[in-house]
Amino acid sequence: MSDRETKIGEVNEALRQVKAPGTDRDIVSLGWVKHVTECDGAVKAEISVPVPGERVMASVEAAARSAIEALSWQINTNVKVTFSGVTGTVEDAQDPLAQVGNVLAVASGKGGVGKSTVAVNLAAALAREGASVGVLDADIYGPSIPTMLGATNEHPHPVEGPDGKKMFGAVEAHGMKLMSMGFLVEQDKPVVWRGPMLHGALQQFFGDVAWGPLDFLIIDLPPGTGDVALTMAQSITLTGAIVVSTPQEVAMVDARKAIAMFDQTGIHLLGLVENMAGEIFGEGHVKAWAEAQAHPFLATLPLVQGIRVSGDTGTPAALSDDESLAGPFRALADRVATACAMRNADAPRRKKISLQG
Ligand SMILES: Nc1ncnc2c1ncn2[C@@H]1O[C@H](COP(=O)(O)OP(=O)(O)O)[C@@H](O)[C@H]1O
Ligand SMILES: [Mg+2]
Repeated sequence: MSDRETKIGEVNEALRQVKAPGTDRDIVSLGWVKHVTECDGAVKAEISVPVPGERVMASVEAAARSAIEALSWQINTNVKVTFSGVTGTVEDAQDPLAQVGNVLAVASGKGGVGKSTVAVNLAAALAREGASVGVLDADIYGPSIPTMLGATNEHPHPVEGPDGKKMFGAVEAHGMKLMSMGFLVEQDKPVVWRGPMLHGALQQFFGDVAWGPLDFLIIDLPPGTGDVALTMAQSITLTGAIVVSTPQEVAMVDARKAIAMFDQTGIHLLGLVENMAGEIFGEGHVKAWAEAQAHPFLATLPLVQGIRVSGDTGTPAALSDDESLAGPFRALADRVATACAMRNADAPRRKKISLQG
């Protein structure tokens, strides 16, 4: 082996000490280290991470740099970290969302616990870091995405898809692509549909919207474990689900049912989110329960007026310049994108689920 090859081998070995932030997995095994060169003691390393957060990238850069600089012969080190974009691929070519890297569902047992708030702000935080993001409002009877993203007067326009197929162009707001029943029916008019129509509408949201290639599609589910979740499970392949609960016992009882549903339908649980933590509903119960059950825990989000106001005014808290509002959602986005990256490393091709029973 040449001197250079030996040194490059040593750099790769050193980089095995660098873990993906928040995990115990090293960036070499995860395939994040793309290219290493060496010339007269000058090292260049190119690292590509599937997590868009600038904090995650800065942390990988700093850790990689110090690991390389610890090599005795090293004179100069240049580490470049970039966001690699879409990572997941689907096994089923018929999957209507095959061009989306990560498909995530946000669910809860109960209504009013902040599912839509979490979905919208997670999406906005990911988009803020440079990911391409879509939000699919699957709450057909109670769509709140148009209000929360300030897009109540928007309508999807017909577009031509591949092979001349007639499709809906997604509505765009805050740099994200959106689709919601709220864009298709008049505001204040109820949607009075039976199961089969609901099923049909959802199928169209998956298959007839020109989502295009996206890094993340966030699906905001209606509360509970009903028809929508089942239709979703049968129609598309998910990277995983996020379950939101408030810290109260009444909400957690129902959250457990949502978790059981994902378990039964073979959908990976990315983790739990504790929302509205504080004096009124308590704090820490969801986290403690998740830890006791060995479920991954993603974030604790505080009950604060600014989050409620941002939802009502159509400007997500995650996009605020006020870091006390945006920070918790940006941290959530880092955790979720990292959880997706770990899932994609273990199960690189999302599998169509099979319903038992
Ligand atoms: N962490 C929070 N702090 C303050 N208000 C919140 C928080 N999370 C949600 N809300 C508010 O609570 C209400 C219900 O939230 P929403 O996201 O619509 O719940 P769900 O989709 O689960 O029914 C909304 O008015 C929302 O703005
Ligand atoms: Mg909702």
